[in-house]
Amino acid sequence: MTTVAILEHSGDKEPKEERAAAGGYISYSNFEFCGYNLKIARIVDDTMGVSAYVWEAGIALCRYFEKEDINFTGKKVIELGSGTGIVGILASLLGGEVTMTDKPKILRQIENNISINIPFACRHRVNVQPLVWGEDHTSFSADYDFILGSDIVYSSVCYPALVETLRHLANQGTTIYISSEIRPRNRSPAFHKEVLPQHFECQVVETVEAKDVVVYKMTKICTPR
Ligand SMILES: C[S@@+](CC[C@H](N)C(=O)[O-])C[C@H]1O[C@@H](n2cnc3c(N)ncnc32)[C@H](O)[C@@H]1O
Repeated sequence: MTTVAILEHSGDKEPKEERAAAGGYISYSNFEFCGYNLKIARIVDDTMGVSAYVWEAGIALCRYFEKEDINFTGKKVIELGSGTGIVGILASLLGGEVTMTDKPKILRQIENNISINIPFACRHRVNVQPLVWGEDHTSFSADYDFILGSDIVYSSVCYPALVETLRHLANQGTTIYISSEIRPRNRSPAFHKEVLPQHFECQVVETVEAKDVVVYKMTKICTPR
């Protein structure tokens, strides 16, 4: 199946649609994964920061789900740092019961994209919750089948809180997919090679060399090393 991504921030000359929004603007990009056409709205204003982009790591994780024909039907899924929500929305369209999370100010963007992309009849399978790593994680249960995260490994000050959150949310049967852009400046390679393996069995399942993106599959090590 073909995957089409129209990325305005990558300099592509594909059409993009922009609408005025209070204090900023909304930019729309179109993607196709697993036979679903996704129209993703980005709120571009002073408050959204890195959340106002669809990152290559997110696209790579969606492509990985497509390539591996991953089916989330009946599975309990949580996404960390959803941003626009592209990954969690696809997981939901692929059958998952998905909780999409991010910092509180980002949730309106995720909710907007859910309303654009998820048919009303399926909305009961999606929910959006604030989850700041290392602060709110204990309000969530530890019974997820899948934990998803794309481009959430980019700021070393957040790494301890991210590990604490992943360790809380995962149980022995949880499959974690993290898709990361390799950024030596932020010590993301060392985080993946040295820190995460202390707590999780980690496997590289996909490498997108052209974009410097790696997709990791992880499971929790339940006896400490
Ligand atoms: C680079 S963006 C990636 C967004 C999206 N997953 C994607 O691939 O396009 C990182 C996301 O992680 C969220 N994030 C960063 N630090 C966080 C924290 N401490 N707690 C919760 N979310 C956080 C940001 O708000 C942002 O939406």
